[in-house]
This record gives sequence, structure tokens and C-alpha cells, in this order.
Amino acid sequence: SSPITTASVKEMKREGRRIVMLTAYDYPAAKLADEAGVDMILVGDSLGMVVLGYESTVPVTLEDMVHHTKAVTRGAKHAFVVTDMPFLTYHGTVEEALRNAGRIMQEGLAKAVKIEGGAELAPLIRRCTQAGIPVVGHLGLTPQSVHQLGGYKVQGKTPEAAQKLLDDALALEEAGAFALVMECVPKQLAELVSRKLSIPTIGIGAGAGCDGQVLVYHDILSYGSEHVPKFVKKYGDAGSLIKQAITQYADEVRSGAFPQDEHTFTMKEEMLERLYG
Ligand code: KIV
Ligand code: NA
Repeated sequence: SSPITTASVKEMKREGRRIVMLTAYDYPAAKLADEAGVDMILVGDSLGMVVLGYESTVPVTLEDMVHHTKAVTRGAKHAFVVTDMPFLTYHGTVEEALRNAGRIMQEGLAKAVKIEGGAELAPLIRRCTQAGIPVVGHLGLTPQSVHQLGGYKVQGKTPEAAQKLLDDALALEEAGAFALVMECVPKQLAELVSRKLSIPTIGIGAGAGCDGQVLVYHDILSYGSEHVPKFVKKYGDAGSLIKQAITQYADEVRSGAFPQDEHTFTMKEEMLERLYG
């Protein structure tokens, strides 16, 4: 089937077909997700934690995002690749932000960027969209603001906070965002926002009322991720598989069980005779 586009993603919402999004940070992961039929791949700045070992997404740079996006887009033939703009790369002037988004598109070959924040981002979203850069919004728990929020907590639980989130969502749609990620919000609020918006919502810890779901690759596979939140469901245990295989490799090297002849090259006897003279 033909590659996913912003238009087909919006069409999925209209037709009531749920959107499947998964993160990926390198070529093999992107290839596997693509082959499994994932609709959208997010090169999330969560790579700071699950791939680079940082404590938050704050240290992630634009270079990091461009680098990983290049690998992911080489592996994704069908899925629509969205890349996170990292911490502080879209809070200066609109021109600076546009230049940074441009690098993600031109060097990384992403098809869209994702930015965290509310109505204050409307002018940037308008400029990006006019310039041919599709934008995904991100509301609720916005991990780049973890030090402001005081931890990874559920957002939008009071009427005031819920109203603000809804107003922000409408402002992002109005500015031209073609999809919206909602992270860690009560399911009732996520469902309300999903009904009020015509663009698709993609939830993570936001319940079944969203138009799609996103999770982190390493989390669903139990692949070395450390603190896994409540909203994650584990679909595999790659970490145990990998550790078990490496342990066996180490044991066999130490015992001499590996390598066997089948893993080994030989030279012709006559060559050996000439060597020894
Ligand atoms: O960085 C990321 O992986 C994300 C998703 C969790 C939405 O932003
Ligand atoms: Na992110």
C-alpha cells in the first residue's frame, strides 16, 4: 500500500480507524516497525533516556535528533516519520525555530516535526505549516518541562487545567497542526478533546478515547528501559532475550565451545606447505 501522509492520517480519524504510532531511533527498529505495519513512527526525544542514558529529555540536542532521524527514515518505507524538536530549539525567534525544523526535514528527511506546548506556539505552527513543514502538537505531560512541572505527573485533573488543555488543543488545531499527542491526561479529558478536534489525537497514557495510540519502542519490548510508567503495556521481553544470548556467548567463548569449524575459515593444505617451506 502507498506511504502514509498527513492526509491519510486525517482520513483515518474521519473513518474511525485507529492510528498506530510507535517510537524508533535507529534503522533496524524503524524497519521492524514499518514491516509490522505501524502507521506513524516517532523519533522521540525520549531517545535521550532510552538510547543515550540521560535522566530526562532536556540534554538532547538538535544534532542528536537529526542523526537518529537519518537512520529511521532509511528504514521506514511506509510509515510516516515525525521527529521531536528537542529542548529549547523552538523557543527563540520563529526564524530560528524554522531553521531548526528545516534541518530535521532536509537532513533527517522526517515528514513532520512535533513540538511540546500550547497556544503560545500558534505563530510558529502557522509559519511551519505555510513553509511546508507539517506539525504535530503535544499537550498534557510535556517531558521537556519536567523541571517546571515538578515530575512526571498526570496533567489536566482540575476543571481549570482541563479547560486550558482543551483551549490549547483548539488553538493548535486552528494554527494548522495536523495531529495532537496527549500524554498522561485523564481519559475523560482526552476523549472530550478528541471529540472537539477534527484533527486526530494520539494518546499516551490518555485512554482509549483518542484517535490513536503511541508508546516507546523500548518500553513495549522491555528493551533496557528502566522506569516504565503505568500506561505502558509490555508486548515482548527483548531485554531478557538479549541478555540470555550474550551470557551464552560469553560462556562459550570462555569454555572454548565457540567458535566451531562452521564459523571458521581454512586455507588450502598446499598453501600451508609453502608457508612452512
Ligand atoms: O519522545 C517521545 O517518545 C514522545 C512520546 C512519548 C509521545 O514524545
Ligand atoms: Na518527546
